[in-house]
Amino acid sequence: MLTDLYSIPSPCYVLEENKLEHNLKILDQVQQKSGAKILVALKGFAFWQSFGLVSQYLHGSTASGIYEARLGYETLGGREQAKEVCVFSPAYKKEEILELLPIATHIIFNSFHQWQTFKPLIDEHNATHSNQHIQVGLRLNPLYSEVTPEIYNPCAPKSRLGITPQAFQQGIEQYGLDGISGLHFHTHCEQNSDALERTLPHIFKHFSNYLSQMKWINLGGGHHITRKDYDLSLLISLIGMLKERFPNLDDIFLEPGEAVGWQCGYLMGEVIDIIENEGKIAILDVSATAHMPDCLEMPYRPNLSKLSKGILEADQGENNAPFRYRLGGPTCLSGDVIGDYSFHSPLEIGDRIFFEDMIHYTIVKNNTFNGVPLPSLGMIQKNGDFKLLKTFNYHHYKDRNG
Ligand SMILES: Cc1ncc(COP(=O)(O)O)c(C=O)c1O
Repeated sequence: MLTDLYSIPSPCYVLEENKLEHNLKILDQVQQKSGAKILVALKGFAFWQSFGLVSQYLHGSTASGIYEARLGYETLGGREQAKEVCVFSPAYKKEEILELLPIATHIIFNSFHQWQTFKPLIDEHNATHSNQHIQVGLRLNPLYSEVTPEIYNPCAPKSRLGITPQAFQQGIEQYGLDGISGLHFHTHCEQNSDALERTLPHIFKHFSNYLSQMKWINLGGGHHITRKDYDLSLLISLIGMLKERFPNLDDIFLEPGEAVGWQCGYLMGEVIDIIENEGKIAILDVSATAHMPDCLEMPYRPNLSKLSKGILEADQGENNAPFRYRLGGPTCLSGDVIGDYSFHSPLEIGDRIFFEDMIHYTIVKNNTFNGVPLPSLGMIQKNGDFKLLKTFNYHHYKDRNG
């Protein structure tokens, strides 16, 4: 970390470039050893001012719709730069498809009906733009996912994500597969490669016949590839097995978001006040509900460090330290609580708190509830210098409300 952390405006998300590069090197190792192509999922990690670095390692971006696709295309590159722009949405509107045509390399549909609706547009585009050919895919629901809680499980009962084996069968009978070159599934979340190993038999059981007709498969995200205990060699061997079993597959894609932004930066906030109610409660200028929503949704408890009177105390918050506080945000939501933490020395107003691993699924989900200011964005560059990239003000709030 920097020596003068007080020079960083609070609150601020700070990406550490060398940690991002560390992740990218691990991902690249998987690409080199397996031949798979890795795309960054912008839904989890859209910190585009770091994409100069990301593009040195990854094959492109994957998007949830037109805005992410545009951002990926503009900042990471498209087919002109030999990068992929892959898109999946549960349902597209016609105007979105029209905007995607010039930039997407892969469009993945969630139903045969949506595919058929836009097939004429895509066929016409492909017929008239030989250098902008779009590959079309379908998202599968293999009826198997180990993800908990249910809110994150794409194969939960009545899931709207992916085509079930039964619906796939009906779709084939009605429309065939002519024009479909790839299949996609996304059934993982923060998982190791053993989960993929247990998932693939379900894909094979329901979809093997169709897979043998495809040019590519996309294994989705949720592969926690850059986590310390991730079994890289199992992932590489599973990809090898897929290639052997389906020699027709030219490309195997993985599209992690979290594994790209994993543990490569923090959200820094400041203690604004300390009150008492059956214990001490510190009110910060960062909010669980506005800036760290997974703390409430998952729920998830971030690790933290604190900076007090110029002294940085790393890895605080363990339960047996003597000074205990509830850390909460500045909004009116009663449950805007980040968690209960214990420190080795008392917290003081003006102390800085560094919530670790806050670069993925945070900035992309930020909101301005209560008009709470959005945290700035900054980067600690490889040379150790801090660079402030973006600040937000009242007008960003006003613009979104009228
Ligand atoms: C279709 C799809 N692809 C990729 C991802 C990225 O997953 P993760 O950030 O967990 O790797 C997600 C996350 O929800 C997703 O829905």
